[in-house]
Amino acid sequence: MLAEGTLEGKVAVVTGGGSGLGRAFALEFARLGAGVVVAGRRPEPLEETAGLIEGAGGQALAQPTDVRVPEQVDALVAAAVEKFSRVDVLVNNAAGNFVVKAEDLSPNGWRAVVSIVLDGSFLCSRAAGRQMIEQGGGGAILSVIASYAWTGGPGTIHSAAAKAGIVAMTRTLAVEWAPHGIRANCICPGPADTEGAGQALWPTDEDRKRVAATVPAGRLATPEEVAWWATALCSPYADYITGETLTIDGGHWLEQESYLPALGKTPRG
Ligand code: HXC
Repeated sequence: MLAEGTLEGKVAVVTGGGSGLGRAFALEFARLGAGVVVAGRRPEPLEETAGLIEGAGGQALAQPTDVRVPEQVDALVAAAVEKFSRVDVLVNNAAGNFVVKAEDLSPNGWRAVVSIVLDGSFLCSRAAGRQMIEQGGGGAILSVIASYAWTGGPGTIHSAAAKAGIVAMTRTLAVEWAPHGIRANCICPGPADTEGAGQALWPTDEDRKRVAATVPAGRLATPEEVAWWATALCSPYADYITGETLTIDGGHWLEQESYLPALGKTPRG
């Protein structure tokens, strides 16, 4: 956890900032002194996040935005500049997901997830990057992925393909925008204890327990412990880190149950 005031004078835009990890990121950026713009489709949760920040003495703007729509994304960056005069950080956190067999996924279902996750991250990166290039002084772009970007994700083919695309996009931007002092990185949280992920991926208590049992650390991540590292990667302490992915998953993606019985452990809880 960074010290309060570390990001004083900086401005962070967080997509999907109305709930879950996005809200945790927004609150942590604000605690560190940054002005925060939260974006998402539904105004009410955004207003709630902004209210929490302002209630704690911070500065925030709620800007309803569908990240799939280029004009709305451009308007998001324009609103951030109008309120705070600049954009230093973008967090591509907005996502959509549901579990479905690949053979049952409709073209529209594929499009819905890929366009939120991949198109949205590109459009936001493009708009924020243009602003960062124009204002000078560098910047940081952080995108939230999942480890099925590299393992594949049975049941979530749309999200897995889109998150893999974000990794390639991030590495591309890391090189293209390095001359502008703009860094691009990813964080890869494991299953995190948020309502949105729960509804989409572990709807019942039993499902939740089963998912937690697949994490070597034995539990889901708290939104706060993901937010500490998300903000750190966007801070000056990470000025020499770009094109990288930081996995924060309690060992989840490394878990292999094949030989666990030989260690006296029961596979998968
Ligand atoms: C099959 C489904 C479906 C489901 C939607 N669709 N839900 N198909 N199973 N459960 C299909 C619809 O039938 C439709 O196709 C198409 O998807 C678009 O649906 P809409 O509801 O019209 O789309 P939209 O309103 O844009 O909603 C997008 C969404 C929605 C992705 C479907 O769930 C959403 O916006 N979710 C945001 C919140 C969210 O999902 N958060 C979870 C992120 S957690 P047809 O053909 O019928 O028209 C996460 C963490 C992963 O990503 C990491 C874990 C380790």
